[in-house]
Amino acid sequence: MSQMGKVYLVGAGPGDPDLLTVKALRLLKAADVVVYDRLVSAEILAMIPEKSKRWSVGKSAGRHCVPQDQINPLLYDLAKRYPSVVRLKGGDPFIFGRGSEEAEYLGQRRVAFEVVPGITAAAACTAYSGIPLTHRGMSRVVHIVTGHFRDDEPIDLDWERLTGPESTLVVYMGLSNIERIAEELMRAGMPGATPAAAIQNGTTPNHFCLASRLDRLALEVREAGLSAPVLLVFGEVVRMAEVMGDWFCPTTLTQALVGER
Ligand SMILES: C[S@@+](CC[C@H](N)C(=O)[O-])C[C@H]1O[C@@H](n2cnc3c(N)ncnc32)[C@H](O)[C@@H]1O
Repeated sequence: MSQMGKVYLVGAGPGDPDLLTVKALRLLKAADVVVYDRLVSAEILAMIPEKSKRWSVGKSAGRHCVPQDQINPLLYDLAKRYPSVVRLKGGDPFIFGRGSEEAEYLGQRRVAFEVVPGITAAAACTAYSGIPLTHRGMSRVVHIVTGHFRDDEPIDLDWERLTGPESTLVVYMGLSNIERIAEELMRAGMPGATPAAAIQNGTTPNHFCLASRLDRLALEVREAGLSAPVLLVFGEVVRMAEVMGDWFCPTTLTQALVGER
């Protein structure tokens, strides 16, 4: 064990390189090898020193991502060869990032690891769209769920719990199932007029926020041709984008669409 290196499970944040933590940057600069996902932005990858080895395990043109059951042993093998291995992930490593599976695997093999939290998409993409996750009188509960389901599987979520009053629902990986998600929410009692938003490439120079209402969001998202990564947000707080939605992104569709109602 004493000969083994250490693995740092590091969150890179949602895209804007200025949202990288000081600790993440320090570790990146000192890494012998960096294993990174496709959601890590090019600007952040450019901060990796030339001398450090890089290992992409994310999807790129024409290539599939490396399966998780190959990433875990890869990290273990790299820790045997290098003192400092940075496992760099988009957002936060422990929020839909499978960082905890990697930590568990390494821990079981007595490889030392550290977890460096990153700013998760739910916090950053909404803030950059002028949407607060909570707001007095509008929302005091936040639900964060995954919208990733296989086509042949029922969506196994307690929709009624997610549609409660004064709450905000944030859906990661929901783009391909947006129609099913909207239908389930309305069936569970969420009014069709509930403000809803889809945020594409949040916090990057291509940040785009489409704000609408629950019963129209899916259609408008398809018409606008949004593509991943996209974060979905449902709840009264989306209305706040009318007031402060353009502080970061003047091209947002927010004002036009929410204002239409
Ligand atoms: C596998 S999850 C990883 C989440 C990440 N660990 C985090 O904490 O943000 C990928 C999903 O996160 C959301 N996401 C991450 N970065 C995003 C961004 N910059 N803009 C919009 N959505 C983003 C999208 O829903 C995307 O499909």
